[in-house]
Amino acid sequence: MTRDPKRYTITAALPYTNGPVHIGHLAGVYIPADIYARFQRLQGKDVAFVCGSDEHGVPITIKAKKEGITPQQVVDKYHAIIKKSFGDFGITFDNYSRTSAKIHHDTASAFFKKLYDEGKFIEEVTEQLYDAEADQFLADRFIVGTCPKCGNEESYGDQCEACGTSHNATDLIQPKSAITGAVPSLKETRHWFLPLNKYEPFLKEWILENHKKDWKTNVYGQCKSWIDDGLRPRAVTRDLDWGIPVPIEGAEGKVLYVWFDAPIGYISATKEWADREGKDWEPYWKDEETKLLHFIGKDNIVFHCIIFPSMLKADGSYILPNNVPANEFLNLEGNKISTSKNWAVWLHEYLEDFPNQQDVLRYTLTANAPETKDNDFTWADFQARNNNELVAIFGNFINRVTVLTHKYYDGIVPEPSTFTKIDEKTLTKLKAYPSVIESSIERYRFREAQQELMNVARLGNKYLADEEPWKTIKTDEERTKTVMFVALQIAATLAVLSEPFLPFTSAKLKKMFNFDGLEKLPNWSSLQEISPLLMEMPLGRGGLTIAKSELLFSKIEKEQIQAQLDKLEASKKANEAANAKVEPQKETVQFDDFTKLDMRVGTIIEAEKMAKTKKLLILKVDTGIDVRTIVSGIAESFTAEEVIGKQVAVLVNLAPRALRGVESEGMILMTETPDGRLVFMNPDTSGVGNGATIN
Ligand code: MF3
Ligand code: ZN
Repeated sequence: MTRDPKRYTITAALPYTNGPVHIGHLAGVYIPADIYARFQRLQGKDVAFVCGSDEHGVPITIKAKKEGITPQQVVDKYHAIIKKSFGDFGITFDNYSRTSAKIHHDTASAFFKKLYDEGKFIEEVTEQLYDAEADQFLADRFIVGTCPKCGNEESYGDQCEACGTSHNATDLIQPKSAITGAVPSLKETRHWFLPLNKYEPFLKEWILENHKKDWKTNVYGQCKSWIDDGLRPRAVTRDLDWGIPVPIEGAEGKVLYVWFDAPIGYISATKEWADREGKDWEPYWKDEETKLLHFIGKDNIVFHCIIFPSMLKADGSYILPNNVPANEFLNLEGNKISTSKNWAVWLHEYLEDFPNQQDVLRYTLTANAPETKDNDFTWADFQARNNNELVAIFGNFINRVTVLTHKYYDGIVPEPSTFTKIDEKTLTKLKAYPSVIESSIERYRFREAQQELMNVARLGNKYLADEEPWKTIKTDEERTKTVMFVALQIAATLAVLSEPFLPFTSAKLKKMFNFDGLEKLPNWSSLQEISPLLMEMPLGRGGLTIAKSELLFSKIEKEQIQAQLDKLEASKKANEAANAKVEPQKETVQFDDFTKLDMRVGTIIEAEKMAKTKKLLILKVDTGIDVRTIVSGIAESFTAEEVIGKQVAVLVNLAPRALRGVESEGMILMTETPDGRLVFMNPDTSGVGNGATIN
């Protein structure tokens, strides 16, 4: 695309509707897509920003089984939660649809039917993995096995999450049913395949030749590796009962593969929106002058760069994506975010703990966006970004400007007089920012773009600190007016430029600066024309009244952060407890063997740490028979002081052995919590004397 595009079709990956959305989703896909869409709208561009719930596929049926409800009930529940979260965080989809909607079923069926009628599929009876116990074919997430490419033992049937490879279920080594755990058998079934191999020449030219320079290296690299490995036909139908029925005769009991129907969801969402707005959807998908962009996470690359484009190409009437700016993954406190392990910050829960602080999270997630490599979200960083950047730099500047304007001029923007060199330099710098930020956004570098936004606030702080209006007010009224005028223009510029990144803050600023009272609303492009000489300023020539400062950001205290860390710790513990492996039962022993063990109640009467060891305590234990020395490996769980006086269970007839030169005569019986903390086996023995036997 050499000229400016006529319109933008911006898609964000349809989230699976088997759980709520978390910060990883927001950082990787929805915030960058939203920044981009907002930015284009601010430029007056024609934008269709679409998304929706991905409601088919195996994970949803698995979830339904687990909860004892229907798949439709699962998707109804999470569709509502997800949609609300996106709305709450200011993600400005023009339409958020869902793949269970009729318009989507119709669109996806028609898409399939057309390719079918034109002979674009291969129809084949092949042997597929089958679980006789569950009476079900096993595809996608119903099957796990070893990835033929990287050896990951928990690869799914259609994709390995460890290496990202997409494969056929029959490629798995040692496959196992995820439903019953059974080793599957093979059973014949008829399916329709898209012969990706036929699209190889097209993909080579389109991606490897034409997009070598403008696609992100991670995206380009993945595509190249798949194409170089050679592409094979991919089944686009499945033997399942949840999904879009295959719309041809003789395909009863079969549905479209979820990755066939879901991307078509972008098209159905656009249609639904166009119908509502009285527009024509087709140019958004079929006009070469439309810029089509897919915002996704890295596990979606093959589907958006290889499979969906091949489908669009097979149809022949669609345009192809201009770019697929995929992000890497966001981790949380050093660990992979996991829905099943509840290791996540859920958007709906965040808002309960930090009400009205959407922009703080948006800001932090953009500052740490996993644009070129996986990145880590930590609560400590969240607090630091808020306190040291949003409060101390951005909020502080706006606050100083508005407070001083009210103090000196009752809130009326003063008329400037002569600009000094410094004023002119400052305004020249200010005027460069819109295009600096724009160039970062257009290269999908949102972190960099947001840093430049903060530099505008820094410019403002520096200007105030250098020009010190709080001093000149006593000596030079005219100079003070000019300084405050310039500072106010910087603040007003921030109100406009912050919109894609901090939309809630931007709305407050626009209200504070009374943008409604302006003849000409400042917008992104007009800011670039700020000229100190022509006096084309965002806030005009002065005379406008601004409101008192509204609180933009407030300090986040360490207790709030600790509460979040505690919450994570609790979910880690709960998860460990749920997954704690129970050792299998040992070999049977005869009663006589058991009675050979002499176990007694005893009391620890002395304890000291064994020098130069981490784990060992030297204990003196009153066993009722005698007082003896026992060396015990419990020092990582207890201090010496803590254990003195404890009544414990002791195995007294264990053959003595020397530990680091100290003879140990017996063993204290212990057990362990799921997170590895030792605890004494001392059930309630109050009233029991030392030496009592345990049997
Ligand atoms: N549901 C998929 C995921 O969460 C993404 C689907 S994107 C679409 O990974 F293109 F298929 F819509
Ligand atoms: Zn793999």
